[in-house]
Amino acid sequence: MSRPYVVTISSEKGGVGKTTLATNLAIYLKAINEDLPVTLFSFDNHFSVDRMFRIGRSPRQGNVLQMLSEETVGEAMELGEYGVQFIPSSGELWSIRDQVSSPGQLARILAASDLSGIVIIDTRPDLDVFTQNALFAADRVVVPVKDAPSLENCKHLYEFFDRQQLSRRTIRILPCLIDQRIHYDGPFRDPYQLLKAYAINRGYRCLEGFIAKSPKVESLNTNPEGRIYPVITHGRGTEVHVQFAHLARQIYLGTIENQQRRLDQVAEEIGRERSERDESFTTRRANLHSDCLLCDKPLVNPESIAPAGYYCETSDGATSGFLEEDCFAGLVFPYFYRSRRQIDASDPLRDLFRESAQRSYFVLRRAPNTRGHYQQQLSFYRFDEEGLEISHKIIELTELNQSVGQDALPLLGPLLQRTTLLDGENRLSDAFLLIRRVSSDFAEEILYDEQYRQFRKIADKIAAQLPAC
Ligand SMILES: Nc1ncnc2c1ncn2[C@@H]1O[C@H](COP(=O)(O)OP(=O)(O)O)[C@@H](O)[C@H]1O
Ligand SMILES: [Mg+2]
Repeated sequence: MSRPYVVTISSEKGGVGKTTLATNLAIYLKAINEDLPVTLFSFDNHFSVDRMFRIGRSPRQGNVLQMLSEETVGEAMELGEYGVQFIPSSGELWSIRDQVSSPGQLARILAASDLSGIVIIDTRPDLDVFTQNALFAADRVVVPVKDAPSLENCKHLYEFFDRQQLSRRTIRILPCLIDQRIHYDGPFRDPYQLLKAYAINRGYRCLEGFIAKSPKVESLNTNPEGRIYPVITHGRGTEVHVQFAHLARQIYLGTIENQQRRLDQVAEEIGRERSERDESFTTRRANLHSDCLLCDKPLVNPESIAPAGYYCETSDGATSGFLEEDCFAGLVFPYFYRSRRQIDASDPLRDLFRESAQRSYFVLRRAPNTRGHYQQQLSFYRFDEEGLEISHKIIELTELNQSVGQDALPLLGPLLQRTTLLDGENRLSDAFLLIRRVSSDFAEEILYDEQYRQFRKIADKIAAQLPAC
């Protein structure tokens, strides 16, 4: 089953006939082909959609807020009158405004859904993030304009399309609420001709025809039953009936002529992003040092990463690998916290350290201003989760050249040698080693896209703060 054709009705002006158009269009499309699934989403006031489509007094099911926060269409949708499926708006939409940060969120949800046929989206009269989401997913954007100011406003919509690198050809202007009693002298005889000329003059494409202003149509949302009646059932004698029918046919033909769907494109982009992500993950995993960088015990094999305590990576990206939990604690206590007593695995100090390390980043690097010095010093920094320095200790590596790998530096030596912290001449390089605690039963989580990006972000932040060495 192919993905749906998405029609978004949008205009920054209120009262131009968007909601009337969106709701009626759904019904006229159903009338053209009753087997065609038609789904209406509303990001506008929910009353109009409820009052037109809710069957009897059936309880409300879901709304677009639920769809966006649960990231699935499923439960939110209900079957309404005239065979139209719908998801009404929510008065609480503002509460997730900050969570909906990208204009592509709705498109992703729709691309992953099993919707087909046509989806019509009604929007609020502004270009907020919800309208942007509706525009981003669209195969066709219909912009009702009723006068020169509403046409002027289209500029912002086109600018949004340009910014998002979407095709302007998606957008079509439709003169609406045209008062046919008005006539002008000169080449443009009425408001429709004039608006159309303005639009074409600005390089905007128009749909064929217009929607007239009709008192009968306006009266369809005021009746003792408290419902909103469609033009197709209650306004057949009006010109608007013929105009809506013509409009629906244009949209319907568009879905047939245009086999390429915007949501297919979105799905392709998602697939591409995913495979790029998988590829970077695979590369990161393949480049790992297979043994604990401190004790040489094998940690990484093709299937799994043995319980590891810490992930580390040099700033030049040349070395990356894991450290065993106890190895790192064994390094930290004697060297950096100058603990003379033996801290064994059951010591509460270790628990305390393990616990607080969860929220820290550790850095090893040559001490500040020691380049070229014979006596080498190593800095050990601790940063918080935001990458702000908490502490800094310096240890002397006086005998480093002689004692690397030997008794004097039983743990530190191998770590320095296995990473690019030591250069070819066994002297401390400018690189630093960033160490981050990982979850011991899922160590490789840190190599996944989002977590890894965070690790790199902190690495950059720390690099910018470290003093010259
Ligand atoms: N073709 C029409 N003729 C007369 N009145 C209309 C027509 N279309 C819409 N209206 C009325 O205009 C008002 C605004 O329409 P609406 O569809 O709610 O616009 P929007 O969604 O752009 O704010 C409503 O009172 C509606 O009944
Ligand atoms: Mg509206």
